[in-house]
Amino acid sequence: MKGLILAGGTGSRLRPITHTSAKQLVPIANKPILFYGIEHMAAAGIKRIGIVVGVDAAAEEIVQTVGDGSQFGVEVTYIRQDAPLGLAHCVLIARDFLGDDDFVMYLGDNMLQQDLRTFVESFEAQRNRQPSLHEDDVRPPAAQILLAHVDDPRQFGVAALDPGGDVVQLVEKPKDPPSDLALVGVYLFDRHIHDAVRAIQPSWRGELEITDAIQWLLDHGHRVVHEVLQGWWIDTGKKDPLLHCNRLVVDTLERRVDGVVDERSRVDGRVVVEAGARLENSVVRGPAIIGAGTRLVDTYVGPYTSIGSNCELVDAEIEHSVVLSDSRIVGVHRIHDSLLGREVEVVKSDVRPRAIRLMLGDHSRAELE
Ligand code: G1P
Repeated sequence: MKGLILAGGTGSRLRPITHTSAKQLVPIANKPILFYGIEHMAAAGIKRIGIVVGVDAAAEEIVQTVGDGSQFGVEVTYIRQDAPLGLAHCVLIARDFLGDDDFVMYLGDNMLQQDLRTFVESFEAQRNRQPSLHEDDVRPPAAQILLAHVDDPRQFGVAALDPGGDVVQLVEKPKDPPSDLALVGVYLFDRHIHDAVRAIQPSWRGELEITDAIQWLLDHGHRVVHEVLQGWWIDTGKKDPLLHCNRLVVDTLERRVDGVVDERSRVDGRVVVEAGARLENSVVRGPAIIGAGTRLVDTYVGPYTSIGSNCELVDAEIEHSVVLSDSRIVGVHRIHDSLLGREVEVVKSDVRPRAIRLMLGDHSRAELE
């Protein structure tokens, strides 16, 4: 079993963060989103992982950060996609890497609570099983998909099931959904998917849809099985879902204080203070994480906040937010529900006339009280 992680795309819904950084590397609890996917695969026993990346600076950043995979105990191969032509296009260009092996495909900006091990094991068990004579359908599955009940299925690929639980139909972003079961960004395939991705045509949005490729499998007599997701699943590609995801993950942290907390500071609850961080007359109320080398002075960090490494917060109050590395917040209170990139400065100034002075990059957004 191999792994295929899709980490291309432009990240347009997370601009301006993604003008300079890959959306898959935005941190959740100070760890890049992509690392969670790689770790899930490694924990499921997958040793060889292909990562589909674009050809831009974001792709280079991914290659630099993930490297050869040895930090995760896996071997990573990069596959370059010249343009975002769809999830099935990723399978098409990964053909040489995948060979005829079964593989698990994972969207690099998705976060799942459930691990991949049981999902992978159930596919392998069904493929290796000796069917009993009394069974109606003895075909081994060519694909296994993960489904979740969602409120608005029109935004996803949607599956229809027969009474026995086999998948009978799949549609991408249907106007009139056949069910409320959306395709989660995790798929298992055998080699037949390669015939499917070669056979299908681009959709109305100009992409080769993996949903259409799985429908092709069904139309050509292959069996597609499913599992329903356990726990949460978040497509982190926008600010609010990203903050939500950060909230869920910091909530699972175990308290660990390796940095320096002076006698006038307090650390309440499940808080990680990394080595090299320093709290001076400050309060951190968990769940929260403070990155290495970060300095908090006369500051309050409230629940569900991740502060990256080498930041400086002086006379600041922040909660339910994510701050990337090397940023400064000085003299500003009540920052809530915010996502700050790297080397960002939010500072109070006493310069007259009293005014708001902004220097925001393209696609930035500032909400003032
Ligand atoms: C893609 C798939 C869709 C799936 C979704 C899960 O959608 O095409 O079938 O339900 O991922 O996140 P996209 O993110 O490209 O709109």
